[in-house]
Amino acid sequence: MKGAIPLSTAFVSLLASILGSNATPLSARGPQTVNPYLDADQYVSPVYTDQVVAAAATIRANGNNALADKALLLAEVPTFLWIDRIAAVTSIGGYLLDARTKQAQSARKQVVNIEVYNLPDRDCSAKASSGELDISQAGLARYEAYIKAIGSQIESYPDVTIVIGLETDSVGNLVSNQSVPKCANAAEAHINGSAFAVAWLSQYANVSIYLDGAHAAWLGWPDNLGPTADILAEIVNRAKVINPAATVRGVATNVSNYNGLGTSTNFGYDELDYVRNLAPLLTARGLPAHFIVDQGRSGQQDYPRSGGDWCNNKQAGFGPRPSSITPDPLIDAIVWVKPGGQGDGTSDETAERFDEACGSETSLKPAPEAGAWFQEYFEQLLENANPPF
Ligand code: BGC
Repeated sequence: MKGAIPLSTAFVSLLASILGSNATPLSARGPQTVNPYLDADQYVSPVYTDQVVAAAATIRANGNNALADKALLLAEVPTFLWIDRIAAVTSIGGYLLDARTKQAQSARKQVVNIEVYNLPDRDCSAKASSGELDISQAGLARYEAYIKAIGSQIESYPDVTIVIGLETDSVGNLVSNQSVPKCANAAEAHINGSAFAVAWLSQYANVSIYLDGAHAAWLGWPDNLGPTADILAEIVNRAKVINPAATVRGVATNVSNYNGLGTSTNFGYDELDYVRNLAPLLTARGLPAHFIVDQGRSGQQDYPRSGGDWCNNKQAGFGPRPSSITPDPLIDAIVWVKPGGQGDGTSDETAERFDEACGSETSLKPAPEAGAWFQEYFEQLLENANPPF
């Protein structure tokens, strides 16, 4: 750490290039005080576009031209790029270059949305998305190297606005799943890993970080709100120990879930209530109260659902489209973090990552591994889309 003395951008870049990406973090080049989504287009993930084009071709081959035409409209909807393993990190530079080109062509700012998702002992209370890093095998050190590698990809693109959604479900598990041994064992590593990510990545003035806020039906209950704000503050405070200028922009909610945003008729399942209730508790702890809310699969609200129905829910449909027009100034943008059509977890009971939630009555089956393309689920989301395509 080089201290909190303000440094000019040019000097910081020079220093960074001399020190290289293995240097200790420098001071943030600017606070995350601006809504990154204002006057901008969200970058359309080429990964998702390719998946959607292939899915539409399958639908057409099966003879449903009307649905195939609708499917193709999804190819233009921005979703997050999931950097869910070390091997995915090197793809980031290509996306940023592509966004830079689009920006030059359109004269519109592009926001590249990235989900950083690789904590050691990830998804500790479920099995479906357990990852490649293991705490008992130097997982935290490897995670820090992964974060630095992400920084190396980012540092050549100071002209491209980047949003980072950090480690979906990690705060949810820290707040409410400490009775699960894997989560209790992982707690320190999850707080420290997240703090490191915040400290390191908030060096870049073009990066806005949103911490995990799980969702309304998980952390939105009165007993969980205070502890959620406490954990979020702990992450940022530990980040400041590493880098005194570390900052976040806010909190991401409803990632990969199905709750509405001012639209749910199901008490406790609405993100608008949740963010309004959490905001003052964040402010009281000196944290910024800004949110992004995933609405990618939140089109259908009028069916009974429990908090445990997170896996390939059978009644879900695509929801309100990504936009910086939101129902409350607390919310920077509506986003689609989970690319709808990528699975939540396998229904194969013999698979190592089989989780009971994915074999339940409320889940569409048979389902592939988490992250893999799930054609039938994509078609379900499309048929149930609200607003429709
Ligand atoms: C999976 C990831 C995937 C993400 C987005 C998660 O459930 O574990 O591998 O990238 O969903 O589909």
